[in-house]
Order: sequence, then C-alpha cells, then structure tokens
Amino acid sequence: MLRSWDSNAGAWTDAVRERRIPSRRAGTDAAILAAVLRTKPPCVLDVGCGEGWLARALAAHGCRVVGIDASEALVASAQALGGGTFVAMTYEAIGARASALGGPFDVAVCNFSLLDAELAPLLDALRGVLLPRGRLVIQTVHPWVANGGERYADGWREETFAGFGGGFTTAMPWYFRTLESWGVALGASRFTIERIAEPADVDAGRPLSLLIEAVPANAGHHS
Ligand SMILES: C[S@@+](CC[C@H](N)C(=O)[O-])C[C@H]1O[C@@H](n2cnc3c(N)ncnc32)[C@H](O)[C@@H]1O
Repeated sequence: MLRSWDSNAGAWTDAVRERRIPSRRAGTDAAILAAVLRTKPPCVLDVGCGEGWLARALAAHGCRVVGIDASEALVASAQALGGGTFVAMTYEAIGARASALGGPFDVAVCNFSLLDAELAPLLDALRGVLLPRGRLVIQTVHPWVANGGERYADGWREETFAGFGGGFTTAMPWYFRTLESWGVALGASRFTIERIAEPADVDAGRPLSLLIEAVPANAGHHS
C-alpha cells in the first residue's frame, strides 16, 4: 500500500491540486477544514498529509501544521508549496520519533489516510503526541457507500483510482471498516468518540464521507 502511494505520487498530486476528485469538491474538503478549525487549534498534526493541501488550508487560518507521510515523493511535493513543516515518516515510526515532530498538538487530523487493518499502533502513538485535551479528527470513506455491494464486514479492498482523472499506475489495497469497527478501534486505543458527522451530497441523497471526532478517554474534555 505504501509503495502504491509513492508510485502514484505525481498523479495523486495532480488529481488533488486540479480538484479532480468529485467528492472533495462536493464537500469533504470543506467538512474536514470546518471540523478541525471548530476549536481554533493553534497546532495541528496532519497524519498522512499527502501533497499537503490540508496543511496549507489550515495554515491560511493561522494554524501551525506539521505534516507526516510515508511517501518521500509526496512530502517533497508538499514542501515545494510550503504552509507547514513536512516530514517523511511512516505511522509506525511516530512513537519512536515523537520528539522530532515538535508537538504536543491540539488536533491530529487523518483525512482519508487510515487505510490499514491495524490501527492500534498509530492511535496509541497519536495519544502520546496530543495534548491531554487534544482532539483526533478522522475523515474516511462512508461504509454505506464504499462497501460497493460486498458483504458488510471488515476486509481488504482495492482502489484503482478509476474516477480520479488518469495517470495512476498502481492499484492500492485498503482496509474496509464497518462503523462498528471504527468505534471498536478507537475505544481499544482509549479514545472516546465525541461526534460523528456524515457530510452529504444533498442532491444525490448520499453521504460523501464519515467524519469522526474523538478525544483521549478521561480527558474531561467538552468542546
Ligand atoms: C488518500 S491519501 C490522503 C492524503 C491527504 N491526507 C489528503 O487529504 O489529500 C493517503 C495518504 O496516507 C499516507 N499513508 C498511508 N499509510 C501510511 C503509513 N502507514 N505511514 C505514513 N503515511 C501513510 C499515504 O502515503 C498517502 O499520502
């Protein structure tokens, strides 16, 4: 999966920067920005930042943003436009290299970047770099829409990027997760879900995404 992001880095950068992904135009970009900015966080960690659009958008609202991504090509692409500090790092390395990130952070945001079966190591590491009253904001594919008629159960799927405007050479394996499974994964890493939102394509009558906001359990935090 990480290899696919590196080989598709150019095509992905073009697709995002030319706004070729319909669901992003229809509302998911606006939804994640609004969710992160709601509490006016001074300091944000963009987890799986890709080519960096979200970091740049948050920086334009005054946030200090650190973006991490496994793909060196995407990190270079992000650095070229600036707006934040971008570091080539896998999620697996966050725990050991936490001090290199310059936290702690008010918000850790994962915009369509949690694609693995195993979330616990990353979620545990994010607890460690968040302020005690910090917030984790996750936007992901909506299970009702992304299920594509298959059994409603966790499992590996494949993204071919067919609707993203060409140039993608490598399909990406990704892990489909039911709504219940998101709740279980967050609970297992001692996050409490505070809000669930379903940004919608009102004309089509369908959700565009699933947006989850969670806080470290027992943080006594109310937004
Ligand atoms: C769908 S892209 C989203 C990029 C960006 N968040 C955005 O909104 O455009 C998913 C990103 O997650 C990154 N990613 C996935 N798994 C990762 C891991 N284990 N470590 C670091 N980066 C990872 C990929 O390299 C890719 O850039």
